[in-house]
Amino acid sequence: MVGSGLFGSVFAHEAALRGNKVTVIEKRSHIGGNIYTKEIEGIQVHMYGAHIFHTKMKDIWDYINKFAEFNHYVNSPIANYQGEIYNLPFNMNTFNKLWGVITPDQAKQKIEEQKRNFHLNGKPKNLEEQAISLIGPDVYQKLVKGYTEKQWGQSATDLPSFIIRRLPVRFTYDNNYFNDPYQGIPIGGYTKIIEQLLSNDLITVKTNVDYFQHKDEYLTSNTKIVFTGMIDQFFDYKIGALEYRSLRFETKILDTDNYQGNAVVNYTDADTPFTRIIEHKHFEFGKGNKDKTVITHEYPKTWHRGDDPYYPVNNQRNRELYRQYTELSKEQTPNVIFGGRLGQYRYYNMDQTIMAALKVVRQEFGE
Ligand code: FDA
Repeated sequence: MVGSGLFGSVFAHEAALRGNKVTVIEKRSHIGGNIYTKEIEGIQVHMYGAHIFHTKMKDIWDYINKFAEFNHYVNSPIANYQGEIYNLPFNMNTFNKLWGVITPDQAKQKIEEQKRNFHLNGKPKNLEEQAISLIGPDVYQKLVKGYTEKQWGQSATDLPSFIIRRLPVRFTYDNNYFNDPYQGIPIGGYTKIIEQLLSNDLITVKTNVDYFQHKDEYLTSNTKIVFTGMIDQFFDYKIGALEYRSLRFETKILDTDNYQGNAVVNYTDADTPFTRIIEHKHFEFGKGNKDKTVITHEYPKTWHRGDDPYYPVNNQRNRELYRQYTELSKEQTPNVIFGGRLGQYRYYNMDQTIMAALKVVRQEFGE
């Protein structure tokens, strides 16, 4: 198993349950991949960005609950636009703050009026036109434009319209970001889940081991490999490099008990260089050292070789290139299964990652 992230750990767990010996190698100094949490000042710190578990799938919720107890955290991020605070996702609280409207009918009328004043010739040609045609200029300018441009490192007029197919708009005073019926944060952190998944005598875990430096040792004809790193790197980029977006996280301990009053605050203007600040103790309702808090600034960044790849860039070129790599893997490496966000080049949420791992388990073990 190459990689001890959620995909690798679920697969290793299930393979061991079926009597298989598994060696997990992980190039980082810790297990868990991007869901890794570390306790600092008694606070579970999400070291690779905010991770809120949410799903529609009852079977996946039941599965993950075998490994942790979840609290009742509900994600209700707020947006800070040049010092003005708005609720997300766009809902009656947001519209009331923006325009003073009180009833859903007034809000709908206002949005229609905003859209009417925007004259579009033909179909939206870029993300800016698409977003304004969906929600109107006020919400776009304050809550979409700057944030999206920082995330993608490009002007909204250069980004394709398909990135925003729809914008979640809710005509109720409901700040719950997700529509899923199951949501929460594992009490004691995500790393505990990974430790439990990997605790089987048939599983050996080796951290600080990069597959590419030990390839000859592992890539043998009688070993099955599950690879959850970058599929293009596996093939030495031989038919081209896939694109990714990266992030830089800056984590600090502050001498205050409550810095921003919410777990997630998005900075939606273009001038603030980071996209959000996470204050970790609010994921667990203020648990931890009462005199301290831990915050993380999240800076989006263009990915260069050697950086951590966080998001696949979903466009036609990359989809086609990824397809070619999967063809190559069928021809050349039948003993290797590519899994997870980087191996399958897909933006998976945690529930989808678990679902994808269990699907591969069923295929592999003929169930
Ligand atoms: P992951 O990348 O976690 O694991 C791959 C592992 O392989 C890594 O540990 C890596 O070091 C290792 N590896 C790679 N190459 C290797 C090599 N050559 N040799 C050895 N080891 C190697 N989801 C959700 O449901 N709710 C949320 O709120 C969020 N939030 C969120 C925020 C941010 C900033 C990101 C980037 C992602 C999320 N997610 C999320 C998605 C979530 O992180 C994701 O579903 C899982 O972490 C995917 O697990 P994987 O195992 O596929 O990849």
